[in-house]
Amino acid sequence: MPEFDLLRALPKTKRNIATRRDGKDPSVVATAKQFGEMYFDGPREYGYGGYRYDGRWVPVARDIVSRFDLKPGMRVLDVGCAKGFLVKDLMIACPGLEAFGLDISPYALTHCEPATVGRLHLGTMEPFPDASFDAVLCINTVHNLDRQGCMRALQEMVRVVRDPAKCFVQVDAYRSEEEKALFESWCLTAETYLQPAEWVALFQQAGYSGDYYWTILQS
Ligand SMILES: C[S@@+](CC[C@H](N)C(=O)[O-])C[C@H]1O[C@@H](n2cnc3c(N)ncnc32)[C@H](O)[C@@H]1O
Repeated sequence: MPEFDLLRALPKTKRNIATRRDGKDPSVVATAKQFGEMYFDGPREYGYGGYRYDGRWVPVARDIVSRFDLKPGMRVLDVGCAKGFLVKDLMIACPGLEAFGLDISPYALTHCEPATVGRLHLGTMEPFPDASFDAVLCINTVHNLDRQGCMRALQEMVRVVRDPAKCFVQVDAYRSEEEKALFESWCLTAETYLQPAEWVALFQQAGYSGDYYWTILQS
C-alpha cells in the first residue's frame, strides 16, 4: 500500500485563498455541496469557477495506464468522475481501454465530454458486480463523505476491483496547524480531512490496500 503521487503530471491549480475565505459563507458552502452548475461552472467562490476540458489529465492518464499496466479491453472506473475528463483521457492514453465513471452530480454527467456519453453512471456507491474492474480510481472525492461514508466508499472500491493493489485514492490532508487553517479557508465541500497518518489508519481499517496520495494546500 504505497504513497504514490499519480497526479504529479497535473499542472498546479491557482488558488486565491484569501478571496475564497472572505467570500465563504454558509449559503456558498450549501450551494457548492449540491455539486451543481454553480460548483462546476459558476463563480470561483462556489467551486471550480468553470471546469472545461483542456487535456490536462492526458499525462496523468498515461501515468495511470503505466502504473496499473492497463491494456486494451481492460476496464477502469473513475469514482467522482465529474464531467468525465479523466475517463476520456484514459481512452486516449490507451486506445481500446474500457473506461467508466461514477458521480453523484446530474449536472456534471449531463455536461460530460461527448466521448464519455454512455460511460458515466449517476450514483454514490458502486452499482457494479464484485471484481468487475481492472483498476479503480477516486481522486479528490472520498473526503466529501463523513468518516463512515469514507470507509464504505473505500470498501466499495476494494469490492469492485479484481486486484486490490490496482486502486488509487487522493484525499485532502494537512500536516500542520498552518496547512489545516489554509485548508479550512479554501475548502467548501470536504467533510473528512485528516493528517496523512490518520488517513492511512482509516485505509487500513477499511481494508484498502491500494495506492494513495494527498491534496495539501501550502501558502
Ligand atoms: C473535487 S471534484 C473531483 C472531480 C475529479 N475527480 C477531479 O479530480 O477533477 C469531486 C467530485 O466528486 C463528486 N462527488 C461528491 N460526492 C460524491 C459521492 N458521494 N459519490 C460520488 N461522487 C461524488 C462531485 O460531484 C465531484 O464531481
